[in-house]
Amino acid sequence: MAIRFEGNIFHLTTDHTLYQMGLDAFGVLYHLWYGEKTECSMCYLYHYPDVGFSGNPYEAGKLRTYSMDTLPLEYATLGNGDYRIPAAAAVHADGSCALDFRYESHKIYNGKYGIEGLPAVYADASQAQTLEIRLRDAASGLVAVLFYGVLEEMDVITRSVVFENDGEEDLTLTKAHSVCLQLLDGAWDWIHFHGRHTMERQMERTSLFHGIQQIGSTRGTSSHQQNPSLILCEQGCTETSGLCIGAALMYSGSFQAQIEVDQLGQARMVMGIHPEQFSWKLKKGERFSAPEVILSCSTQGLGKLSQQFHAVIRNHVCRGNYKLSSRPVLINNWEATYFDFNEEKIYSIAKQASELGIDLMVLDDGWFGKRDGDCSGLGDWTVNEQKLKGGLAPLVEKINALGMRFGLWFEPEMVSEDSDLYREHPDWALRIPGRKPVRSRYQLVLDLSREEVRDYLYESMRKLLRENHIEYVKWDMNRSICDWYNPALPPERQAELPHRYILGLYELLERLTTEFPDVLFEGCSGGGGRFDAGMLYYCPQIWCSDDTDAHERTFIQYGTSFFYPVSTVGSHVSAVPNHQTGRVTALETRGTVAMAGSFGYELDLNLLRDEEKETVAEQVKRYRKLQPLIYDGSYFRLSNPYRDGMAAWSFVSEDQSRVLVQGVIYRAEANVLQKRLRLRGLDPQAGYRVNGSKQSYTGSALMAGGLLLPKVAGDDVAFELYLERL
Ligand code: GLA
Repeated sequence: MAIRFEGNIFHLTTDHTLYQMGLDAFGVLYHLWYGEKTECSMCYLYHYPDVGFSGNPYEAGKLRTYSMDTLPLEYATLGNGDYRIPAAAAVHADGSCALDFRYESHKIYNGKYGIEGLPAVYADASQAQTLEIRLRDAASGLVAVLFYGVLEEMDVITRSVVFENDGEEDLTLTKAHSVCLQLLDGAWDWIHFHGRHTMERQMERTSLFHGIQQIGSTRGTSSHQQNPSLILCEQGCTETSGLCIGAALMYSGSFQAQIEVDQLGQARMVMGIHPEQFSWKLKKGERFSAPEVILSCSTQGLGKLSQQFHAVIRNHVCRGNYKLSSRPVLINNWEATYFDFNEEKIYSIAKQASELGIDLMVLDDGWFGKRDGDCSGLGDWTVNEQKLKGGLAPLVEKINALGMRFGLWFEPEMVSEDSDLYREHPDWALRIPGRKPVRSRYQLVLDLSREEVRDYLYESMRKLLRENHIEYVKWDMNRSICDWYNPALPPERQAELPHRYILGLYELLERLTTEFPDVLFEGCSGGGGRFDAGMLYYCPQIWCSDDTDAHERTFIQYGTSFFYPVSTVGSHVSAVPNHQTGRVTALETRGTVAMAGSFGYELDLNLLRDEEKETVAEQVKRYRKLQPLIYDGSYFRLSNPYRDGMAAWSFVSEDQSRVLVQGVIYRAEANVLQKRLRLRGLDPQAGYRVNGSKQSYTGSALMAGGLLLPKVAGDDVAFELYLERL
């Protein structure tokens, strides 16, 4: 049994970890442990002094050491004498805002709970167990049901909360975070992933300080600026050793994660929907579901933690026919043509691509409405016949006749003011009466909380997908959101809109992905502005960044790799000089970097020299051969690109017989020793042959001493080594 309740202690065990909570005499649920597996109750570690200015609940009587302000609460709330960051807060009908949750009941069952209207980790009864703990605020009747999903073999624990108003009066939730996690002390580092458009998920690691540190997004999307994920790790934790806990929020809207080190040096982390521009009115009898957080813990360092997240995301988050299968190598016309194309141009790119072995032609932005630039056309999902004479069908047929599949770009959530849709339904765009809206890339955002808007988008997309042989959809979203207002909602419900938008987005994605199970959906938001486990539930891959420069990509993909498996990372070879940075890198380097992902090209292949075309054809062949190892193998980060002057990573097959080592050395240097790279995850006893050579090395030597990397001439030179067990 992964979940046990014994002597007022909840034990949630996975193969290598233990999550433990206790119930005390006052019905308070407190956190005991998340870390290495032990058989013991960890209660003995907790002892509290009488702390001045940390008050005591009334029923504690003269017990001055019992304080909500010092206890490691499993789900902390505002207004009960705990002055640290709360996970939940509410305003009651009389305007007061205290919440004090006490245990009411619990249940344990096989299988993994789901969440109404929201994506969640899924697993069958043999793979997971669920614990539901019902907590009640006696005075108001607000119930918080804490959900725990335990995926034993995955070393994963999921959390979510459902609030139920079981009282007589209406109330309003003002903070409804999904997780609250206590750590015994604050001597930890935390790692988070910040960035910007064209430079997402830059890893940053700092020590915790006393007080509150936080990340988040109020942009209506999970954002380029911060990823909804973080790692807490012991200060000495490395890629290969030490304790670390990862948390990934399965949500694509505004989010917040906070960590506080309190006066006693204990740490608390909370994570969920951002409370700014959030409130949710709960009438008597109504429920509200918070999104899920995926937790995983490793006692063997960050590398193992990442592998655990890769496994759970790949097997229990991503869905659909493409979840575990190989993906087509694609060619996208965006950086080849931008808005300037016609049928002949697209066909010529496709034709050349087909000759080089590429599987799928993706027609990007500009094929619809009056879309000759980014000022117009969004919302009009009908073919621009000036560019594509006779519509899509003849082009798709011609491309199919080349033996290639066809894919199409959409940006469903947006509208241009210069569009028929906007002229007909100006009220469908988010804007606040009496204020001018904020434009971004000249566009406004459709209110996806409205059913008629979703129905319009569903019908428009469905029509195109039905009438044309479209086998791939790129779902883009190219701005941050503001001007939140929906005329149909009463004033006290306006702050529900950002979350209602996300619920609408998920509902639309669910409808379309269910109806078109054979279509590969790739997520995108100006590259990786919405790269989160929520979107991955609908789209098994996401365009990782609009920055296609191979050098910068190694940093972006490094950060992305902490939580997200390579199969989810859309990555393309583009032209040089690179359109974002002007940097020139070799075609081999661009190929190697893009291969650590869902591979494709994004340039006019007709402009390549003959020998470059041969390289492309060879890369496509190589990727196709290596894709099973890249997708199914264990991924190892072998360097820290910020520190080591190179990016290096490897894929090791499950049976450890095959290893692909790839990387990029950033700068050539004169008169230096050859670089050495220590490998990981090999069979220590076995011998390995490198790139088919006669000489072999033992796994233990390659892991302890390392592999000598080839000498490089020039900057940003890629290497690739293939090891086979003897
Ligand atoms: C976004 C995407 C790009 C491309 C453009 C088209 O920036 O990330 O890949 O599709 O939009 O406008």
